[in-house]
Amino acid sequence: MTARIIDGKAVAADLRQRIAARVATLGYRPGLRVVRVGDDPASGVYVRNKDKAAKEVGFDSATIALPATTTEAELLGVVAQLNADPAVDGILVQLPLPPQIRADIVISAVAPEKDADGFHPLNAGRLASGQPGLVPCTPKGVMHLLAASGAVLPGARAVVLGRSNIVGRPMAQLLLAADCTVTIVHSRTRDLPAECRRAEILVVAVGRPEMVRGDWIAEGATVIDVGINRLADGKLVGDVAYAEAAARAEAITPVPGGVGPMTIACLLENTLDAAIARRK
Ligand code: GUN
Repeated sequence: MTARIIDGKAVAADLRQRIAARVATLGYRPGLRVVRVGDDPASGVYVRNKDKAAKEVGFDSATIALPATTTEAELLGVVAQLNADPAVDGILVQLPLPPQIRADIVISAVAPEKDADGFHPLNAGRLASGQPGLVPCTPKGVMHLLAASGAVLPGARAVVLGRSNIVGRPMAQLLLAADCTVTIVHSRTRDLPAECRRAEILVVAVGRPEMVRGDWIAEGATVIDVGINRLADGKLVGDVAYAEAAARAEAITPVPGGVGPMTIACLLENTLDAAIARRK
């Protein structure tokens, strides 16, 4: 068997088009502000892509670039201004932040109703207790991909490899809310391959190039690879050894072109949802 490819570029393009169509009916432009501190090159690429995608769907989007020497108090001041600005519906502070700034303090300072990343502890708590709120973009994108792939979630054994606040934990909560039987596994799990082989749906977010091998995959599984790793030769690979996994899976996301495009589309979706909720 060779797996069906789950085309994240196509699913993301379709979602962006639906967002643009909705924005055109609103009578105002949802406002997104992306705050970048310092000059991490990867962050620069992400921030530019977010701004471009936001403008393409008709948002009022701007990037606020602050120097690497910005203090925590200065950044909190910028966040407070954005919280108070009625034209701003979504705020995203790009991570990582320089070492003098505590990310958790900044994340908690963003108004929960403008938390386009879904990282605020109030939104994390809402997700964990089954209440509506803003949900982290990457796991939300994975749920869209699973829906597009036709995966049947209720009762399915889902395994999430990775336990970060950005992906693993919210991913597990979303799968649980969709009635999967969810297991979270991580670097301290005993016999990771055996745990992964139990998965009908396997979501991998560990940040280790090609760590998940073909024999970790059950025949017929749906495999979602959140990893994007650049090898020394410049090649982009996921956290899953793609060719080996595709020989056993029923469906799989490629890297690039799988989860990556969904994250930005879901940031736009969150900002639109925040705008509609806040301005109603
Ligand atoms: N850095 C890497 N991924 C993300 C993300 O989803 N949101 C933010 N704010 N920073 C990131």
